[in-house]
Amino acid sequence: MLKNSATHYGSVARTLHWLTAVLFLLAYIVVYYRQWFTEARTPENWTALQLHLSFGVTIAVLVILRVYWRLTNPQPQPEPGSALMHKAAHFGHLALYAVLIIMPLTGYLGTGVATEYFFLFDIPKFEDTWLFQTLVANTMGLSFEQFEAPMDFIHKEGGAYLVWVLILGHAAAALYHHFKLKDRTLQKMLRPK
Ligand code: HEM
Ligand code: HEM
Repeated sequence: MLKNSATHYGSVARTLHWLTAVLFLLAYIVVYYRQWFTEARTPENWTALQLHLSFGVTIAVLVILRVYWRLTNPQPQPEPGSALMHKAAHFGHLALYAVLIIMPLTGYLGTGVATEYFFLFDIPKFEDTWLFQTLVANTMGLSFEQFEAPMDFIHKEGGAYLVWVLILGHAAAALYHHFKLKDRTLQKMLRPK
């Protein structure tokens, strides 16, 4: 079934969830491969950066579809649990949605090169857009370097610490539900029925 039911996430929600999770992992792998294993100004260094940007932009597109689908579809019933547990899950998921929006956004806004999207076509860097000129340069009176610094800070510090903690906590909670509480939380996201 495409849509969610009372007991399961539908195939659209499941595909978007797991595809995003895989893209997240790939975005992390390539960016740390670039930082730890490549020399500046080599072809591998450039390719790894461009793959990071491309995975990130894809996540941004998926999250738009995902938020639309989330808002127009009923949610499966939560598993039995305390009010506190349900609140924690709710705010945890909200925080993950925030990450899914803030990471690609700060990544794009703070990047000083164009994205060669999977080497198929170019997406101009923010500095070269009409929005940057009108809003940031003319209205706020900021140079790209001044604007980029806080974006980079959020993207890099957030990405290196906070985001990992949230995702690991999220995955650990799913496994705790599955193996310890033995409820259907994980199955809802894995199985069609
Ligand atoms: C959900 C999507 C994304 C995640 C999880 C993510 C995560 C990260 C992480 C963990 C780093 C390394 C932080 C560090 O230096 O310790 C990083 C660096 C970076 N990201 Fe992203 N990013 C995402 C999307 C994007 C997008 C869409 C762009 C631009 C279009 C982008 C541009 C960059 C750039 C330019 C760097 C610096 C690369 C380097 O110094 O080697 N990111 N990102
Ligand atoms: C191995 C990794 C992961 C596992 C095992 C996992 C598992 C799950 C499960 C079981 C649910 C359903 C929870 C429920 O209905 O109460 C869920 C929902 C969710 N997951 Fe994950 N997940 C993983 C990775 C990720 C990643 C990397 C992200 C994004 C950064 C993410 C974002 C979300 C969001 C936003 C929801 C809420 C969906 C909604 O109800 O709208 N997950 N996940």
